[in-house]
Amino acid sequence: MSFDTISVIGLGYVGLPTAAAFASRRKRVIGVDTNQHAVDTINRGAIHIIEPDLGRVVTDAVRQGLLRAVSQPQPADAFLIAVPTPFQHDHEPDLSYVKAAVLSLAPVLEPGCLVILESTSPVGTIEQMAGWLAVARPDLTFPHQAGEAADINIAYCPERVLPSKIMVELIKNDRVIGGMTPCCSARAAELYRIFLEGECVVTNARTAEMCKLTENSFRDVNIAFANELSVICAEQQINVWELIALANRHPRVNILQPGPGVGGHCIAVDPWFIVAQNPAQARLIRTARQINDDKPDWVVEKVKAAVADCLNDSGRGSSDVIIACFGLAFKPDIDDLRESPALYVTELITRWHRGQTLVVEPNVDVLPTSLDGLVTLADRDHALATADVLVMLVDHHQFRALAPSAIRQRWIVDTRGVWR
Ligand SMILES: NC(=O)c1ccc[n+]([C@@H]2O[C@H](COP(=O)([O-])OP(=O)(O)OC[C@H]3O[C@@H](n4cnc5c(N)ncnc54)[C@H](O)[C@@H]3O)[C@@H](O)[C@H]2O)c1
Repeated sequence: MSFDTISVIGLGYVGLPTAAAFASRRKRVIGVDTNQHAVDTINRGAIHIIEPDLGRVVTDAVRQGLLRAVSQPQPADAFLIAVPTPFQHDHEPDLSYVKAAVLSLAPVLEPGCLVILESTSPVGTIEQMAGWLAVARPDLTFPHQAGEAADINIAYCPERVLPSKIMVELIKNDRVIGGMTPCCSARAAELYRIFLEGECVVTNARTAEMCKLTENSFRDVNIAFANELSVICAEQQINVWELIALANRHPRVNILQPGPGVGGHCIAVDPWFIVAQNPAQARLIRTARQINDDKPDWVVEKVKAAVADCLNDSGRGSSDVIIACFGLAFKPDIDDLRESPALYVTELITRWHRGQTLVVEPNVDVLPTSLDGLVTLADRDHALATADVLVMLVDHHQFRALAPSAIRQRWIVDTRGVWR
C-alpha cells in the first residue's frame, strides 16, 4: 500500500514538524491532537509552539489543503504517534498517553496500515502497543501474531531532533528504524524516505527503543560529570569554564558545559526509563540523574550566599534586595519550560527570598502558574538597571550579547559561565 494519506497523532514539538515535513512533500496529512487550541490554531495556518521555520511550512501546507488538524483519528495509510511519555512521581514511565493514542486510532485501522511510535519509550513498549491493538481489533492480525504476514505493520522510530533546529534536523538526521519484522522496517523506511535526507538505519524494535534511551543517558551522564566538576571547582576556587577549556585541549577529552541542572522532557526523563527497568544494573545512570537533579539546590545556596553578602555590604534589609533571574526555559533560545532547572531554581528562590524577584525570559509572555504573583516578568534592561543580585540561568542569545560594561552588579551567580 502506498502512503497517500499520513496521520500524525500528537501535534507538539515532534509531531507538528513531522506532519509539516510530509505535507511539504505534497502528501495529504491529517494531524490529530486532543488539545482543541492546537487543532484550531493549526487549521488557521498558525502554530501554537515556538520553532524556527515551522510556521511558514505549516501556513503553506494548510493553505494548499495538504495539512489539516482534527481531534479524533480518521482513516490513513500510516499513523505516527508522537504523544508525551513523562514519568510518574516514582520515576516509572507513564505510558497512558501512548495507550490512549493507540486505542483512539484502533477503530480506523485497515489491513495494510503502518503504525509507528516516535515517542521516547521504555524497551518493550512496541510489543505492548501491538498487544493493545490486537485486543481492540481482533479482526486484524499484528506482527507478534502473524509475523511478516500481519495485516498491520508496526515499528518504533525514535526522534532525535534538537529544539530550535527541528526543521533541519528532522530531515538531515539519520533515522533509526526498529520494525517488529523486517517487512515493518522496510515499510517504515519507505515512509520516512518521503522527506528524509539522512540515512534510515534498520534494527529491531527493542534495540531502537534502547537506542533512544541510550543517547539521552549518554548526554545526561556527561553533563553530570561537568556539573560535578563545577561543584568541586567552586570548593577549590577554580574557574570551571577555564578548567574545561584547558582540559578540552587534550585531543581525546571533550567535557560538556555545566549549568543549573538538566531539563527538558528528554534528557531529564529518559534515563529514568532505563533505571526503572534495570534498578540493579543502572548504577551510573541513576547517579548521574541524581547529580543533575541536585544542582538547582546547589545554585540556590549560591544565590543565598550572594544575597547575604549584598546585605552585609549594603546594610539594607533583606526585603529591599532585588534578585533578577535570567532565563526560565530548559535551554537557550526556546520557550519550553518543561522540567526546566531554571524554572525550578526561580521557584526555590521565591520560597525564601523576602524581596522582589524579577524574571527575564524573552521567549514567554505569560509566567507559569507556579510563579504567579511571586515574581515580576521584566525586560532585560530594566532588570539590569534595578536588580542587586543577578542569577544567570539560561544563556539566551539576548543575554550572551550583553557587553561586560552593561553589568554593574557585584553579586552574580552565573550558572552558564557567560558573565564570568
Ligand atoms: N521535543 C523534543 O525535542 C523531542 C525530541 C525527541 C523525542 N521526543 C519525544 O517525542 C514525544 C513527544 O514529545 P513532544 O515534545 O512533541 O511533546 P508535546 O507535549 O510538545 O506534544 C505532544 C502532543 O500530543 C498531544 N496528545 C496527548 N495525548 C494525545 C492523544 N491521546 N491523542 C492525540 N494527541 C495527544 C498533546 O496535546 C500535545 O500537543 C515524547 O515522547 C518526547 O519524549 C521529543
